[in-house]
Amino acid sequence: MILLDGKKTSADIKEEIALEVADLKAKDKKAPHLAAIIVGNDGASLTYVNAKVKACERVGFESTLIRLSEETTEEELLNEIAVLNVDNDINGFIVQLPLPAHIDEQKVLMAVAPEKDVDGFHPMNVGKLALNLPTFISATPFGILELLERYNVETSGKNVVVIGRSHIVGSPMSILLAQKRKVGNATVTLTHSRTKNLEEITKEADIIVAALGIPEFLKGEMVKDGAVIIDVGITRVADPSKKSGFRLVGDVDFAGVKDKVSHITPVPGGVGPMTIAMLLKNTLLAYYRQED
Ligand code: GUN
Repeated sequence: MILLDGKKTSADIKEEIALEVADLKAKDKKAPHLAAIIVGNDGASLTYVNAKVKACERVGFESTLIRLSEETTEEELLNEIAVLNVDNDINGFIVQLPLPAHIDEQKVLMAVAPEKDVDGFHPMNVGKLALNLPTFISATPFGILELLERYNVETSGKNVVVIGRSHIVGSPMSILLAQKRKVGNATVTLTHSRTKNLEEITKEADIIVAALGIPEFLKGEMVKDGAVIIDVGITRVADPSKKSGFRLVGDVDFAGVKDKVSHITPVPGGVGPMTIAMLLKNTLLAYYRQED
C-alpha cells in the first residue's frame, strides 16, 4: 500500500513556487500578492486564514489580511471586494467562508472579479471548469488532481466513484475526472445520499473519492482489492487521550481498508495540506495572467 502523502507533496509544491518567486525577484519583477478577507472571529477560520498568510510569506508572496468585525454589513463587505477588484497590486484574493448569517454568501462570491477569484468559487469560473476552459480550479479538487498526477495514478479508462455532491468537492471532482485532461478520461459515477445500493457501486471502483462528511463511512467490504482511495473527510472526534481533546477522522475507515488498497490518502496529512499549496498555485497563475 502506498500512502499519498499530501504533507510532503504540498511542501514540494511550495518549494517549487518559492524557487519560481525567487527567480522573478532576481529579474526585478514584483512578487505575486494574495489578499484574504475574513469577517468575524471564528477560531477555526482564523487559524485557517492565518495559515494561508504564513504560506504566502514562506514562498515569497506578498500577502494582505483584511479583518472585518462580525457586525460588518453586506454592503461594507461588497465595498471591500470592489476595492480589491481594481487594486493592481493584488493578483488574487479570497473571502474566507463561512460568512456571518446576515451576509448573502452567493452575492459575495459573485462580486469577486473572476480573474482574481483564486478560490475558483465565482459562477463564471465554475462554468469554465465545466467547459474545460482555462479557469481557477478550487483548491480541494485541484489538490486531488495534483496528488494523483505526482503519484502516477492512472485515471484514464478507470472507474471512479465520487461519494458526495457538494459544490466545492464532489461535483467539480466528478466533472474534472471525466474530462479529456492529463488526470481525467475516467468513467465517473457521482453518488450521494439518495444513491441506492452504494456498496455495489463502490465495489466496482478503481478509484474512490470519499467527500460526504461522515466519519469512517467507507468500510473495507465496500472497496475492491487494489483500489485507490482519496479521503476528503476531516471531522473532529472527541479523544480524551489527546492533548487537544480531539482527533481528526476522515470519511474512510482507514484501518479497515488499508490492507486492501493500492494507494490511500491519510487523514490528517493527505488532501488537507494540499489545499493551501493549490491556493498559492492559483495565485501564481493569476499573477502570470495579469502580468503577461
Ligand atoms: N473555508 C473553508 N475552506 C475554504 C476555502 O477553500 N476558501 C474559502 N474562501 N473559505 C474556506
